[in-house]
Amino acid sequence: MAKTTNGFMGHDMLAPFTAAWMIDMGPLVIDRAEGSYVYDINGKKYLDSLSGLWCTVLGGSEPRLIEAANKQLNKLAFYHSFWNRTTKPSLDLAKELINMFTANKMGKVFFTNSGSEANDTQVKLVWYYNNAIGRPNKKKIIARKNAYHGSTYMTAGLSGLPSLHLKFDLPPPYILHTDCPHYWNNHLPGETEEEYSTRLANNLENLILKEGPETVAAFIAEPVMGGAGVIIPPATYFEKIQAVLKKYDILFIADEVICGFGRLGTMFGCDKYNIKPDLVSIAKALSGGYIPIGAVLVSEEISKVISSQSNQLGVFCHGFTYSGHPVACAVALEALKIYKGKKYY
Ligand SMILES: Cc1ncc(COP(=O)(O)O)c(C=O)c1O
Repeated sequence: MAKTTNGFMGHDMLAPFTAAWMIDMGPLVIDRAEGSYVYDINGKKYLDSLSGLWCTVLGGSEPRLIEAANKQLNKLAFYHSFWNRTTKPSLDLAKELINMFTANKMGKVFFTNSGSEANDTQVKLVWYYNNAIGRPNKKKIIARKNAYHGSTYMTAGLSGLPSLHLKFDLPPPYILHTDCPHYWNNHLPGETEEEYSTRLANNLENLILKEGPETVAAFIAEPVMGGAGVIIPPATYFEKIQAVLKKYDILFIADEVICGFGRLGTMFGCDKYNIKPDLVSIAKALSGGYIPIGAVLVSEEISKVISSQSNQLGVFCHGFTYSGHPVACAVALEALKIYKGKKYY
């Protein structure tokens, strides 16, 4: 088998999360979709039980999403959102998301192309915010062991999986990891879920005190974890964690990338667990997976500080060519209409 320029054996693609032995077997090449099924290039049918990568929640051939993309492509295939320009679909989608997210009052939406870019953006927002309000030392981020928040340098660091850290010199020193709330695996003999949650909240508080509360800026968590197995928070977990964060003025970033849009039986995971986040990351089901798009929802309070301080501090100088891509936004708007039409919540 030929060695490729990437140093991988086999085909010429540098495939994410793919071990050499998998590449030796050759990739499974998927050719087309029909509802919840996909077909490979030899016509073999598979039930797509993971919904792609937790994203094609409306199946792989939803005509309303395809039509929304076609209509927008024919009208305006691209325009950017830099220097106070934007497009109607991105404005409409931002408005719709702010209305839909009710766990805390959100003020602004920043569009990205993925969940990783959304979480990466969160760290810059938090740092900019703390610089804006005169807290330049409050910069550390606490994430959790076993979490998955993405694959960029920053988000692989936020993730709590050794395979994402080893050989990449991660995590950086300003990212800390606290307990994974896996009650079944980690509770002590006779310990109830509530007692376990109290212990984890105490551990979090001790970590904050050890680091110095004046240095800890934010905590990031998925309502239900998915990267290392589906881990449901134990009873009273988020209530107790939020009390600790509030005590030390630490922001809560909710990573809703795999929980948002009805997947926990409520529109967002924050609704299910009574989380009142300052910042929220969404992606994946936002467009039913048909086109890359992610977003950051910023609380009204933080939005106001950023808007008012940018005159002195300089603009929030951050963005991507495809932020708020009109076709992606048009598809997402249609997906939201479908979610709202169904009785998920
Ligand atoms: C909870 C969570 N956050 C972030 C991400 C990263 O999203 P993306 O792969 O779109 O960058 C994922 C991806 O699976 C995820 O599960």
